[in-house]
Amino acid sequence: MKKVTILSLALILSVGANAQQNNPKLNLQLDKATTSVSPTLYGLMTEEINYSYEGGLYAQLIRNTSFKDMKRGERRPGRPPFESQSPDHWALTDSTAAEAKVENSGGINKANSSALCLNVKDASKKSGLVNDGFWGFPVRATTLYKGGVYLKSDNPNASVTVSLESLDGKTVYASTKIQNIGKDWQKYPFTLSTGKKISATKDTRFRITADENGRYWITRVTLFPPTFNNRENGSRVDLMTMMKNMNPKFLRFPGGNYLEGNRFADRFNWKATIGDVDQRPGHQSPWGYTSTDGFGLLEFLNWSEDVGAEPLLAVFAGYTLNGDHLEGDALQPFIQDALDEIEYVTGGADTKWGAQRIKDGHPAPFNLHYVEIGNEDWFDRSGSYTQRYRQMYEAIKAKYPQLHLISTTGRGTNMAEIMNEPGVKLDIIDEHYYRGAGDMYRAAFQYDNYDRKGPKVFCGEWATREGEPTTNMNAALGDAAWMTCMERNSDVVIASCYAPIFVNVNPGGSQWQSDLMGFNALNAYGSPSYYAQVMFGNYLGDKVVPVSAENIPQFDLPMNHFDSIRGAKPSSVPELYYVATKDSKTGVVNLKVVNAVGKAQTLDINIEGADKVVSKALKVQLSSAKPEDTNSIDDPTKIIPVKSSAKVGKQFTQVFAPYSVTVLQIQTK
Ligand code: AHR
Repeated sequence: MKKVTILSLALILSVGANAQQNNPKLNLQLDKATTSVSPTLYGLMTEEINYSYEGGLYAQLIRNTSFKDMKRGERRPGRPPFESQSPDHWALTDSTAAEAKVENSGGINKANSSALCLNVKDASKKSGLVNDGFWGFPVRATTLYKGGVYLKSDNPNASVTVSLESLDGKTVYASTKIQNIGKDWQKYPFTLSTGKKISATKDTRFRITADENGRYWITRVTLFPPTFNNRENGSRVDLMTMMKNMNPKFLRFPGGNYLEGNRFADRFNWKATIGDVDQRPGHQSPWGYTSTDGFGLLEFLNWSEDVGAEPLLAVFAGYTLNGDHLEGDALQPFIQDALDEIEYVTGGADTKWGAQRIKDGHPAPFNLHYVEIGNEDWFDRSGSYTQRYRQMYEAIKAKYPQLHLISTTGRGTNMAEIMNEPGVKLDIIDEHYYRGAGDMYRAAFQYDNYDRKGPKVFCGEWATREGEPTTNMNAALGDAAWMTCMERNSDVVIASCYAPIFVNVNPGGSQWQSDLMGFNALNAYGSPSYYAQVMFGNYLGDKVVPVSAENIPQFDLPMNHFDSIRGAKPSSVPELYYVATKDSKTGVVNLKVVNAVGKAQTLDINIEGADKVVSKALKVQLSSAKPEDTNSIDDPTKIIPVKSSAKVGKQFTQVFAPYSVTVLQIQTK
């Protein structure tokens, strides 16, 4: 007779007892896993918002590099604030020894026509021109910073010292001299190197001090710490690493509203964002600050390549946020711009714009499959999108028949109207969802009955907006429930990306509450939502496993502030959300379970259609005691995924922690 140990007897009794209590049950039908998971299901969306690039991902550290932004003066009744003579983010440490004035002509080129004239009357007083950066500069030990500055002077013996120093100027972390400054504009590259004994700090400033009396003209001051993959004009290492860890399959850029701009002049005019960075004029972001466009089209493309994603290019479609729109012949130049842009991304050396990309430093074409026509064109109440979309669709398809084109009509807007127009093809529609967790639970079965013959869905912006500046655990639960829906239906939802992904957490850094990753000059962290996405993106098979469920408990949704704003009705929703995928080559099954409530849940899990189930599985769990728990810049890892092992089999019982997102990675044969 087989020996029954006390432990296994206890297990049998406990499983038996649980079964009698009608545990929630999931049946995974591995032999029916025929629906493919879209290879581009999880990606990234980005735009210049919340200081995402300037003062964020773009590693350039000097703020107001070309003295274009002026300090805002007092607001006069009925009039906008006047602009003073002083450049924003620059100051003199001693105005008795020197004067500084911005000159708006005579700069280095048309794109950068402003310069600062520093008139030094008593160099012995060492009056410094200081820049406060994007809420400080990241100063770390043994670090090489690479900078550049355009200078000229009327003193033949002119020289300056550039340095990184503490806010009071008493500690100099790194310093170097620039000599032989001529009377004509010249770019002076420099390096700053910190010593071994520095504790990392952001309470710092950058300083230029003239060593001799005389007039100095200064512009395009730049400074970079080491960048990801050591790219010149590159990106922050920490944020790039965090994105790479999400295993994103595409990068949607350049927006968002940043694509459209408030006015035509402020659209993402890609041709003004390529080539020599010192020749880029920059433009106004719709989110209230200036972009230097140092982070331009090629930098977006390099970013996608560096995180292992393909670009998903959004092209300007003749509509701006103030409602201006172009149709017919007036749209033609913008259609040509879009065709040129696609050529820049994908063309060979024998094409005009492919050759330009090669000249700009990227010989290989990028792997482009998806192009989006505009952004959120459901806001164009004139109804011009039908025509604009049709014109652009036809022109792009004629030249690039292999590309998949995405329309931005959105569900329930003018889609029906577009579909009814003869000859207009709607292959993929971009849907955007910003919701509270409750709405995410309500929507978590939204695509189960979607018309499989209709257009595919690109969920190009979505987020559970709870928590600020980055989202909390409750948002991560809503996100994860929503991802189970997209994953289960990824024959329809071919791609999805969260927005916005970045926020500079300094006061004034955020224009959009509840974002995915937060950072300051020195550090970065991921929200619980970020970690939920890391889990969903990394534990994913290529086939959807049908899962049938029994006894799933329901709970009454508490109405939160966001629900009320959106006019949501009180309702009851499932406590548990789930999805399973299988790797058809390796037999690995990834079962994801979301427990939305504050009690542990014991589930019976039944795996059908496998000859063998390896008894030890990997368990990855993200959970917290309270739904409002969160990570922050000061407590960055309070909620992170924890790995352990779980005992599984063809039939097994597993306990899912309160407020948790769990992946069970099960090897089957
Ligand atoms: O993600 C923030 C904004 O939300 C995007 O710029 C816009 O497309 C949407 O309205």
